[in-house]
Amino acid sequence: MADMIIKNVYILTMDPSVGDIENGVVVIENGMIKEIGTSTQCSAEKVIDAKGSVLMPGLINTHCHAGMTIFRGYADDMQLQDWLENHIWPAEAQLTDEDIYAGTRLACLEMIRSGTVAFADMYIHENKVAQAVDEAGIRAALSYGMIDFGNKEKADKELKEGSAFVKEWNGKADGRIDTMYGPHAPNTCSRDFLIRVKEQAVKDNVKIHIHVLETEAELNYMKENFGVCSIHFLKGIDFWGPDILAAHCVWLSDGDIRILAEYDVNISHNPISNMKLASGICPVSKLLEAGANVCIGTDGCASNNNLDMFEEMRTAALLQKVSTMDPTVLPARKVLEMATINGAKALGIKSGMLKEGYNADMIIVDMNKPHLTPVYDVASHLVYAASGKDVKTTIVNGKVLMEEGKVLSLDEQEVIDIAIQRSKELILKINN
Ligand code: NI
Repeated sequence: MADMIIKNVYILTMDPSVGDIENGVVVIENGMIKEIGTSTQCSAEKVIDAKGSVLMPGLINTHCHAGMTIFRGYADDMQLQDWLENHIWPAEAQLTDEDIYAGTRLACLEMIRSGTVAFADMYIHENKVAQAVDEAGIRAALSYGMIDFGNKEKADKELKEGSAFVKEWNGKADGRIDTMYGPHAPNTCSRDFLIRVKEQAVKDNVKIHIHVLETEAELNYMKENFGVCSIHFLKGIDFWGPDILAAHCVWLSDGDIRILAEYDVNISHNPISNMKLASGICPVSKLLEAGANVCIGTDGCASNNNLDMFEEMRTAALLQKVSTMDPTVLPARKVLEMATINGAKALGIKSGMLKEGYNADMIIVDMNKPHLTPVYDVASHLVYAASGKDVKTTIVNGKVLMEEGKVLSLDEQEVIDIAIQRSKELILKINN
């Protein structure tokens, strides 16, 4: 007897060898997809009839600071440097374990609601992030965000903490949690420190999550201090490889694009954050053309201000089209690939595709809505017309986290109430 069967559903498998399946069936057992097709001989304890809906791989958010959800809407409409140095960093200095836990629970709740099944995170108090992820039932690749600013003592301390986190949490929560090293960025971490982090990550066999060339200021800083941009600088210390998840990558030359593609670097494109902070536009279509693995992330809620990956997909497509003045770039199916298959590759997880033997990480999207009617092309609707609010069921690791709009793994009202309470206390502390 299988654990669950979902039937009578339009399946967007994202499996290039199969394509879409009309009126399909998926069988789930032990957290994995056991069967997928148009019929099955299996029976299951739980059967979901999803007529009129679309079943698809859950979305993968490859750059997030989930704890920052506690800062949603806290500091808007500012210059990035002012925003970071005068608002975010001083506010972060006040954060406690409880704040991060409350913020991350809120983030998990929002992600489960809006169809995200896995995310990559880099932040502080990361143990509390891991605890929240464990309890929420979602999947994540977590890293403790490290900054040394060239201070040897701080470098030692940061690496020790990052390393302890990696060892404590890797493979935990029934395998839903993977860990990474999280050196913040090439302009906030020293050359020596980045070399040490890479060595340690290789030794521990885990990936690295880093911000790269988010701003023109970073580009200028690297050129002034090292005579090369961040991409060439990191190439020079043998940093690049398929184990690297590089967020943003906005300020790239054509030569940089070739390097990122050649070394199989995973690039997390964060269009809304880049637009909101006026950081610039990542040359996504050129990166994809060069063969690079580009996925999608929301960044933290202080620069977005939500975690809706449907909105992020649409924005990614629209931004590329208008910036290249070419409406044919980043078609809907390609954007869906970025948010599913490419994201799974970046995190090194067997998700992002509905296929036998893959993780049962999937969502059901309700298509019986005025703004999704009529349907000529499902992929087009998912990217250009749908939003996270249209997701009605979310399944991670074979467990139903939300069913018919009701979140099962978290007490929704409690998560919201506590987040409000923490934010009120936090603002008092910051203003004092
Ligand atoms: Ni970020």
